[in-house]
Amino acid sequence: MNANEIRKDFPTLDQEVNGHPLVYLDNGATSQRPRAVIDEIKRFYEEDNSNVHRSVHTLGERATLLYEGAREKVADFIGAPGPRGLIFTKSATEALNLVAYAWGRHHLAPGDEVLISEMEHHSNIVSWQLACQDTGATIKAIPVDVDEGILEFDKLDGLLSNRTKVVAVTHVSNVLGTINPISEISARAHEVGAVVVCDGAQAAPHIPVNVVELGCDFYVGTGHKMCGPTGIGFVWGREEILEEMNPFHGGGEMILDVWMDRATYNELPYKFEAGTPPIAAAIGLGVAIDYLNDIGMKAVHDHEVELGKYAMQRLGEISGIKIFGPRDADRKGGLVSFSFEEIHAHDVGTILDTLGIAVRAGHHCAKPLMRKLGVPATTRASFYIYNTKDEVDRLHDGLLQVQKTMQGGLGL
Ligand SMILES: Cc1ncc(COP(=O)(O)O)c(C=O)c1O
Repeated sequence: MNANEIRKDFPTLDQEVNGHPLVYLDNGATSQRPRAVIDEIKRFYEEDNSNVHRSVHTLGERATLLYEGAREKVADFIGAPGPRGLIFTKSATEALNLVAYAWGRHHLAPGDEVLISEMEHHSNIVSWQLACQDTGATIKAIPVDVDEGILEFDKLDGLLSNRTKVVAVTHVSNVLGTINPISEISARAHEVGAVVVCDGAQAAPHIPVNVVELGCDFYVGTGHKMCGPTGIGFVWGREEILEEMNPFHGGGEMILDVWMDRATYNELPYKFEAGTPPIAAAIGLGVAIDYLNDIGMKAVHDHEVELGKYAMQRLGEISGIKIFGPRDADRKGGLVSFSFEEIHAHDVGTILDTLGIAVRAGHHCAKPLMRKLGVPATTRASFYIYNTKDEVDRLHDGLLQVQKTMQGGLGL
């Protein structure tokens, strides 16, 4: 794949920021959108705009076909057995809350345990905390080996027991880039009868995903990190589990019939999609998936591994920098988190911005992991299909400039 050609499809990248050509390295927070996605959303509103599933008129049918077509594309993209188990949400956060709410609140009880990991995003921590508060279950976490940047699997046997009802783990860490062995985790969790929830928000945009091979029971993703619009996420769940779950939200679309005192619920996946869904966003996500499929997810991952390796090498040349996560770029997604002992991540991010370089500086919605790493924040450069080695060089040079500026300011 040719990143320099791919960049041309992304209008946002073609601009100067603070007098410098933009280097966008904040893809972990959100990716840019290709023109095809932007155009399709505009086209939909101009030509097909209508509500879905309820109108017999032509526009309604067109909108429904496009919306359901997007569902099929997402299901195929993650290797799901079919679209019935694929539920659209507004984000990965909402998808994780759906599972914690609609599954967790009906299956957890005092004495039960929810096993997460120390490298989870807050959305895969707090949603389970809320479920535990309501049910009397407790949370345990698989520890992170800080030096290696991986989960401590030798602790897994001691943590799993017949009290474990759910294991909820991220596929790729948004801070460390670690790719977790979900199929192994699923197999071990299933031995004790636990349900496996996999947070794929940082995986589906970057590596090939097949939920059948992963063996998980729920898989969560989000459109805005994978070239799609904001306001659209998804959760795939095993149909037999979704069938016996209660709905998440009540309202239109999710019912078969309603009386004053009760209702019967619609079939999958509509039982979990109350109200008017994010129609244009789902259709935009379908186009984003076409775009990624045209490149090929193996090629996407290979490109990011190459950039990740190069970034580790170039950043490793800078004195006083500490890089977190696995050293081996083959074992991680395309991102590098780092810190300087004497310079706060926010200063790094702010000075890089004056040079036109966009990175994320902060706790990355992973405060327990920050505590474990012993830092208040890190700076994260996260790559995607349109990033180049030249941009990694710009980051390297920018970081030297950060050091110079801060050392001057601190009188060091
Ligand atoms: C690992 C992980 N999970 C979940 C989320 C939440 O995704 P969303 O923004 O779609 O709610 C993020 C976003 O940064 C993430 O990195």
